[in-house]
Amino acid sequence: MADYQATPEDKFTFGLWTVSWQGVDVFGGAVRPPMDPAYAVGKIAELGAYGVTFHDNDVFEFDADDAARDAAIGSFRNAVESHGLKVPMVTTNLFGHPVFKDGGFTSNDRRVRRFALAKVARNIDLAAELGAQTYVMWGGREGAESNFAKNVGSALDRYREGVNVLCEYVREQGYDLRFALEPKPNEPRGDILLPTIGHALGFIETLDHPEMVGLNPETGHEEMAGLNFAAGIAQALWQGKLFHIDLNGQHGPRFDQDLRFGAGNLRGAFNLVDLLETSGYDGPRHFDFKPPRTEDEEGVWASAAAGIRNYLILKERSKAFRADPEVQAALKRSGLDELATPTLAEGESLATLRKESFPIDDMATHGFAFEQLDQLAMDHLLGVR
Ligand code: GCO
Ligand code: MN
Ligand code: MN
Repeated sequence: MADYQATPEDKFTFGLWTVSWQGVDVFGGAVRPPMDPAYAVGKIAELGAYGVTFHDNDVFEFDADDAARDAAIGSFRNAVESHGLKVPMVTTNLFGHPVFKDGGFTSNDRRVRRFALAKVARNIDLAAELGAQTYVMWGGREGAESNFAKNVGSALDRYREGVNVLCEYVREQGYDLRFALEPKPNEPRGDILLPTIGHALGFIETLDHPEMVGLNPETGHEEMAGLNFAAGIAQALWQGKLFHIDLNGQHGPRFDQDLRFGAGNLRGAFNLVDLLETSGYDGPRHFDFKPPRTEDEEGVWASAAAGIRNYLILKERSKAFRADPEVQAALKRSGLDELATPTLAEGESLATLRKESFPIDDMATHGFAFEQLDQLAMDHLLGVR
């Protein structure tokens, strides 16, 4: 059996906040001690990862003075460089501090909105310095618990204003950086703005520089809304908007579980890996999970390693599925080739169709053999083919 050992070419990356999550939740406090970022970086490198990502306050405290901030960044940077890792993505914590209780870019308090933009701009400078090419915006606190508290139109105006101002800043500075919005339907707010991939795609088209802004969708966030993650990712790819991706696991619509990748909806994970590996997506495979509170440090690393392992197993299963001649025949029988053919041929128009006589009985009784195709996928996933 293969050892499923990752190499940097696989482009696996981890958020610093994932493995160092101390387990604080709404019902209980920390179950694990703080983890030094430089130590976490070394352990992430041992897993065969390509890189590490962070929020500003994963590396230095919210209220760090310049000296403390520089020292913390220096130690993190040394670790990254000495382990040969990359920092492909950086993001901002606009949710932890009490000032952000009503959001950052869309807080009803204008002072907070101004502070949030300044905080992001400062961290964008750091992101560019570290060579990041993607800047994630997860607006977890941008939302409300009750509808009268937030005029959604005004809030979206302010969201757009914030993203526009930051795009302009990146252009002025000449940074090679693009933004990736991360949708989520709820939690921590009752309802979050830009709740799904679709909402975010629509919003992006209203921006001054839509080409600079794409998505960082997360498995669990779409599945919390009962949506098909792989299908959403397929549309994001189709629109050229998959700038980054957060991989994890989720059991259907409930609280955000942030399980390791492959846990929860395994068939969905198989569909996703098959899609990413056949679509030409060459960005990071970024894990954003939370090792459960039941785990000690050994469990944390077991959980991190398992996400990689599951991805590599599913990649192998996808290859075998695609190479199987019976699968290829089944794909044909199911009409996938035909779907890829334009409905009207060159030179045809609606008038052609209106004159055409259609074999209605044939069309009505024609079976698509999707069940046979899907069972072949199941057999490959379960390793019996
Ligand atoms: C969540 C979110 C966060 C964001 C991260 C990046 O679990 O709700 O995914 O983990 O990805 O904060 O800004
Ligand atoms: Mn995420
Ligand atoms: Mn999540």
